[in-house]
Amino acid sequence: MKSQVTEEIAKAVHLDDLEKIRIKYMGKKGLLTEVLKGMGKLPPEERPVMGQIANQLRDYIEEILTKAREDISKREKEARLQREKIDVTMPGKIRTIGKRHPLTSTLDQIKDIFLGMGFDIVDSPEDGPEVELDYYNFEALNIPKNHPSRDIQDSFYINEDIVLRSQTSPVQIRTMEKHKPPIRVIVPGRVYRSDEVDATHSPIFHQIEGLVVDKHVTMGDLKGVLGVFAREFFGPNTKTKFRPSYFPFTEPSAEVDVTCFVCGGKGCRVCGNTGWIEILGAGMVHPKVLAMAGVDPEVYSGFAFGMGLDRIAMLKYGIDDMRLLFENDMRFIEQF
Ligand code: PHE
Repeated sequence: MKSQVTEEIAKAVHLDDLEKIRIKYMGKKGLLTEVLKGMGKLPPEERPVMGQIANQLRDYIEEILTKAREDISKREKEARLQREKIDVTMPGKIRTIGKRHPLTSTLDQIKDIFLGMGFDIVDSPEDGPEVELDYYNFEALNIPKNHPSRDIQDSFYINEDIVLRSQTSPVQIRTMEKHKPPIRVIVPGRVYRSDEVDATHSPIFHQIEGLVVDKHVTMGDLKGVLGVFAREFFGPNTKTKFRPSYFPFTEPSAEVDVTCFVCGGKGCRVCGNTGWIEILGAGMVHPKVLAMAGVDPEVYSGFAFGMGLDRIAMLKYGIDDMRLLFENDMRFIEQF
């Protein structure tokens, strides 16, 4: 029994194994316990000898069990320490921190400038949906049926009456229908045109519409507001230039150029070849458009403007390819 128990204890791996061995030999019905219980049946002269052997064996088993317990505990503790070892010299996991997209920062800055001039921001889909009625996108903006911008080439039609809005100008009409003058809003939003993708075109892009309607609003107010915007956005020395133009929904209409600089690694340079660059279309809201939206043109007048957010962000940050704005490559976005 002694060699058997010695061998079993030597093979034990866990404390549990030792406990099983203890019970097997020394439990209530253990092998050694049985021997001790059976002592009474032995002839009296054999009892002291057998008693001594059995007691020695019990002491022996207890002793090597204790020793084995200590060994196993020590081994387990070492293994645990090994497992839980922390190498404080290991490099940490890098957590990437998001970056604001250049379109978002540009828009935020433009919003701030117009908020500063008392404009409200209209940008909820309820106030101006991207899937728009032909009526708001064209008809109510005095864009006649045969106008080239209604050409199927330019706009994405869902059906005869519904189109993906090709400009943010329909929100002018929706705003005038909902609110009485005075109106002073800017409307940032996504617009769609069936253009081929290249460095300066994308079928999805962004515009910011501006609309002011009140009594006695003049072209001078338009020039003033856009002048403030240009100086705040492009810098205090920025000049603006109004060139006569045509939009069906404004009369008179203008295209507005600014002097602007792009600053990058090699210092600053003027935008474009002439130092002037076009940033938006604008004009006095056509009386027919006011009337169609329920505003009396005899009492009220207004101005409107529309600028391309993508184009302005490209100018501001010196980005030469519009596609970069839509790829969401972190290597690009991280630069701003
Ligand atoms: N909607 C015009 C465009 O997309 C821009 C514009 C807006 C012009 C408002 C005049 C007034 O080109």
